[in-house]
Amino acid sequence: MSSDHLIIFDTTLRDGEQSPGASMTREEKVRIARQLERMRVDVIEAGFPAASNGDFESVKAVADAIKDSTICGLARALERDIQRAGEALRGANSSRIHTFIATSPIHMEKKLRMSPEQVIEQAVKAVTWARQYTDNVEFSPEDAGRSDPDFLCRVLEAVIDAGARTLNIPDTVGYSVPGQFGELIRNLRERIPNSDKAIFSVHCHNDLGLAVANSLSAVLNGARQVECTINGLGERAGNAALEEIVMAVRTRSDVFQCSTRIDTTQIVPASRLVASITGFAVQPNKAIVGANAFAHESGIHQDGVLKHRETYEIMRAEDVGWSANKMVLGKHSGRNAFRTRLTELGIDLGSEEAINAAFTRFKELADKKHEIFDEDLHALASDEVASH
Ligand code: KIV
Ligand code: ZN
Repeated sequence: MSSDHLIIFDTTLRDGEQSPGASMTREEKVRIARQLERMRVDVIEAGFPAASNGDFESVKAVADAIKDSTICGLARALERDIQRAGEALRGANSSRIHTFIATSPIHMEKKLRMSPEQVIEQAVKAVTWARQYTDNVEFSPEDAGRSDPDFLCRVLEAVIDAGARTLNIPDTVGYSVPGQFGELIRNLRERIPNSDKAIFSVHCHNDLGLAVANSLSAVLNGARQVECTINGLGERAGNAALEEIVMAVRTRSDVFQCSTRIDTTQIVPASRLVASITGFAVQPNKAIVGANAFAHESGIHQDGVLKHRETYEIMRAEDVGWSANKMVLGKHSGRNAFRTRLTELGIDLGSEEAINAAFTRFKELADKKHEIFDEDLHALASDEVASH
């Protein structure tokens, strides 16, 4: 992997699902995973197999279905968790086990009730167990953002020696600020003697609204994997939003000096799919995927854009998957326009039979309504899925 490649690790199906009210069925997870694969995400974290039988089955289903992305399962630094992850991932073309243990004083003392020495020992054991299933092992010192950097250096050096090849630095509670977080990444890379054997990754939460800024600051300081979610879904205030990371790196490649392999035209369909499955609507002014992200209201802006698009636009709407010339759907529209719009919205009905049934109902609705809006199509698709 060249050093200018930024690995995109999507955790919508794991950390995203930890958002209260966002739990997904196995079939829904597979549908989202297929969209992530279409988008060329490098690593899909599919779930936490030891958390429940349902999660085990979901990770297994994703591992069996997806061929072009690496499938990752999360595991605490416990032998049973790692064994469950290894089993769930058995069918994957390419698999990764992601194991973690907390390293901040408050977590070690109050939650784990372990000494720092015991934590190092457990971390090394966990990586060694995980290596029995795959060479692709990721280790995270949970709550790294509030951990002592000297202690982090010791833990990380030890897990690299045990065979971890990705070191993920989580800002678990969203406490870090960009300058300081970037410096932490640079420091760890410079101070850990065997750091060149591993890729540095970051995983930032958004409690202070800084998840994307912290992640990008880490990229400027040598991180080459970012963990993120579609629409910034995730525990509490969420995780860094994939669409913002990818488009920032692409739009300002002059600053970041690296690139992703993401097919950016699949971003809006992915956003729509995740929103429709979880029921978490996207705010209209959300960067990249909000309904107003490319809308111009003021006369001065409209005039400017009509004269030259780049007066007020730094990205092209089509490049992130918005349709350039939005077709109006109504009673004269045919099956092709209907199907194309479903794809643009990230709606995957799963079978030809379901599309035909939905098309019939669309025609019935179009007879009663002047124009069919995207919301109508989402409602129609949900009814169709519910009727099976
Ligand atoms: O936020 C966090 O620390 C996590 C870890 C499991 C990586 O989600
Ligand atoms: Zn997290």
